[in-house]
Amino acid sequence: MPSVRCFSGFALTALGAAQSVLGLGLKSPVARQDEQGNSATCSSPQLSCHNTSAVQDLCCFNSPGGSLLQTQFWDTNPATGPDDSWTIHGLWPDNCDGTYEANCDDDRAYTNITAILNSFGKQDLVDYMNTYWTSNSGSAETFWEHEWGKHGTCISTLDPDCYTSYKPTEEVPDFFERTVALFKDLPSYTWLSDAGITPSSSKTYTLSAIQSALAKNHGGYTPYVGCASGALDELWYFYNTRGSVQTGTFEAAESLTKSNCPSSGIKYLPKNGGSSPSPTTTTTAPGSGPTGSFSGSGYLNVVSGGSQNGCIISAGTWYTSGTCATFTAASSGSGFTLKSSKGNCGVQSGLFTCGSGVSSTVFTSSNGNLLYSGSSAFSTDSAPSGSTQAKVYSGSGHATKFTITWESK
Ligand SMILES: *[C@@H]1O[C@H](CO)[C@@H](O)[C@H](O)[C@H]1NC(C)=O
Ligand SMILES: *[C@@H]1O[C@H](CO)[C@@H](O)[C@H](O)[C@H]1NC(C)=O
Repeated sequence: MPSVRCFSGFALTALGAAQSVLGLGLKSPVARQDEQGNSATCSSPQLSCHNTSAVQDLCCFNSPGGSLLQTQFWDTNPATGPDDSWTIHGLWPDNCDGTYEANCDDDRAYTNITAILNSFGKQDLVDYMNTYWTSNSGSAETFWEHEWGKHGTCISTLDPDCYTSYKPTEEVPDFFERTVALFKDLPSYTWLSDAGITPSSSKTYTLSAIQSALAKNHGGYTPYVGCASGALDELWYFYNTRGSVQTGTFEAAESLTKSNCPSSGIKYLPKNGGSSPSPTTTTTAPGSGPTGSFSGSGYLNVVSGGSQNGCIISAGTWYTSGTCATFTAASSGSGFTLKSSKGNCGVQSGLFTCGSGVSSTVFTSSNGNLLYSGSSAFSTDSAPSGSTQAKVYSGSGHATKFTITWESK
């Protein structure tokens, strides 16, 4: 479990708390989520961890646990998530001082998070979480259950009593929605790479360079930067809240925990072991037979409008910036199967997906193109750009059409 390592690094320190009390008023509000829920509305709520007398309404004021940490992983061995993104660890309440409560309500330690989210119509959220909130050692569902049970149940404003006519489990979509919304506003990979800090198997970086690249984008407040064996592997962004986790605003705050990284010589290892496709290489000439050139290790390039435009990443989505995922093609029956670091690739209800629990589809090829059911047509609703990813559907039923070619590693 990646989450077991969560708390060993928590050191008690008053430094961060003292700094955040200075409160420069810098805010990082996140987009308000759908307000289809029925959680309490809060009028002029106080900023958590900053009250000078007891606050009564703990549905509008997070306590205990007024410091909320959006925590992220950089897992390289085994790697998890896209090669050019950090992944979500969780959203942890902390008592404003580096101590925290855990496992606060066994009755709400649900073991059906995916089913709960789906029952609230959150399929898109689940899809996103399957890409960005994954475990490097077990199923994503088990990891979400652990994060919810250990940390989510300790968030005072998510208590069932905080909902008018509470529908059982409705605090669960609120927790996962907010965590994902915060994570989307914390693109650590981009912030580091904008400062010239990119994954490398040879380069190293100083702690102060990493901290300032991130603090600059977090209201001037330094997140916790975590290392394992001298390599960057965790980030915790601290916030205080004004109002509830469901509908309140999150204001950036200084880390309450001192970094465990060395001050220099920090590695930031690539997730794909250091190889990336050269942008100038052209597609390998097609071979013969149904397997064609698709064999061994390689990249799945996307060709749209007559030219190569990005590639398929490990979850099976199309991405136009960043590093391509490595796929393994293995001959099978009258064609071949494909596999990424996420798991087997298959077409399920028309969607191309790779992951654990996906059953392999036998693909074929013709003229260098990947074929599904004899057709080279793939399509998506709109071509991705920047950091967006597009779902890949078999057939030409969606607006933007493309083909997929193989590039051997
Ligand atoms: C802030 O409010 C909480 C919740 O009522 C309370 O437990 C805590 O003691 C208060 N802090 C101060 C400094 O009064
Ligand atoms: C999830 O589990 C809880 C508690 O066991 C149960 O009350 C709830 O109905 C389940 N939800 C779904 C959508 O299966």
